[in-house]
Amino acid sequence: MTATDFIVARDDLQACKTVATELPAGEALPQDALLVKIDRFAFTANNITYAVLGDELKYWQLFPAPDGFGNIPVWGFGEVIASKHPNVAVGERLFGYFPMATHLVIEATDVSRRGLRDGAAHRQSVAPVYNAYARVGGDPAYAGRHGDYQALLRPLFMLSFLVDDFLAENDDFGARTVLLSSASSKTALGLAHLLHTRGRKVIGLTSAGNTGFVASLGCHDEIVTYDRATTLPSAAPAAYVDMAGNSALRAELHHHFGDHMKCSLRVGLTHRATDADEGELPGAKPRGFFAPDQIRKRAKEWGPGGIEQRFAAAWSGFAPLVQTCLTVVESRGPDAVRRVYLDMLKGRIPPEQGHMLSLLG
Ligand SMILES: NC(=O)c1ccc[n+]([C@@H]2O[C@H](COP(=O)([O-])OP(=O)(O)OC[C@H]3O[C@@H](n4cnc5c(N)ncnc54)[C@H](OP(=O)(O)O)[C@@H]3O)[C@@H](O)[C@H]2O)c1
Repeated sequence: MTATDFIVARDDLQACKTVATELPAGEALPQDALLVKIDRFAFTANNITYAVLGDELKYWQLFPAPDGFGNIPVWGFGEVIASKHPNVAVGERLFGYFPMATHLVIEATDVSRRGLRDGAAHRQSVAPVYNAYARVGGDPAYAGRHGDYQALLRPLFMLSFLVDDFLAENDDFGARTVLLSSASSKTALGLAHLLHTRGRKVIGLTSAGNTGFVASLGCHDEIVTYDRATTLPSAAPAAYVDMAGNSALRAELHHHFGDHMKCSLRVGLTHRATDADEGELPGAKPRGFFAPDQIRKRAKEWGPGGIEQRFAAAWSGFAPLVQTCLTVVESRGPDAVRRVYLDMLKGRIPPEQGHMLSLLG
């Protein structure tokens, strides 16, 4: 049986191609294995960041590719088309982390009513969330267009939720204003919504062409283009959550706010401009935000189901809001996937579009 994989050169993300890979089918599947057809998956700037950090954060290890190439992980849906696991039937629908491919073999383990894990040895070096699959067959929240919004937003909103929680538990480090870069990104929109709900002043920094979209969510007190960042009033304590990963912008904001910069979190890399040596910056020292740390901490403090319950409540406030300003765009087949991938890499995708892709023709 042959599958199609979309792979990119690790040292030159513009070089990409599809390759055919051989898969065991039917009786040839190992015990407990599932053969999954990957129906559709979301693709956002976050997936490009997975590729940029593929070596550093071990994303390339999840779905092996030929030497020098990597298969970018994506959040999406698959259907079990062959099963050697006694408790997983053909026809099951799964939501989770997949390769950009038409098929995946999963070594099913920890199978429960709600989900299962891939126990493949090469997938165990990453956080458990990246190996977990939800069984979503009977769940209307994951069906049709609802499902697309889940794939496009839910994993990103988990990060928004955790950053908001981290800031809130630290009383926002004394800041009452929070600045967000790449304010038009889905992750930043989720965070803006949560901060706005908590009564914080939210300032979105974005490109000139994206200000209208950012305004459409109605969660920002101010929206400022990057070239006007230093016109912001700087006399009150502020916190900065950086989705852009633009070191020149970060330095500019730190110098502008000086000691009033009370917290500076590095979350994203959409601009991929981290080369400049920023040296010692005024204000709080910039630090990376590592989501699994906050998850571990809260899992201990809130007990079983505590994170899930609070997250579900937050999600139910955000999902209907963002669906009104985000349009799902579907693309099928290798050529279409390649086009969307390269447009995303170059920053040519308008923020109001949410892309759902499939390598199936
Ligand atoms: N640390 C974590 O665990 C974690 C979790 C979730 C997300 N994130 C990060 O948060 C960031 C946002 O992800 P997302 O999926 O929410 O993004 P998204 O919705 O696809 O964001 C699109 C926006 O990103 C900016 N952008 C994208 N590509 C660009 C390019 N080539 N050049 C310049 N700007 C570009 C533009 O915003 P502007 O014009 O507004 O700058 C664009 O409107 C990613 O870096 C992602 O990895 C991190």
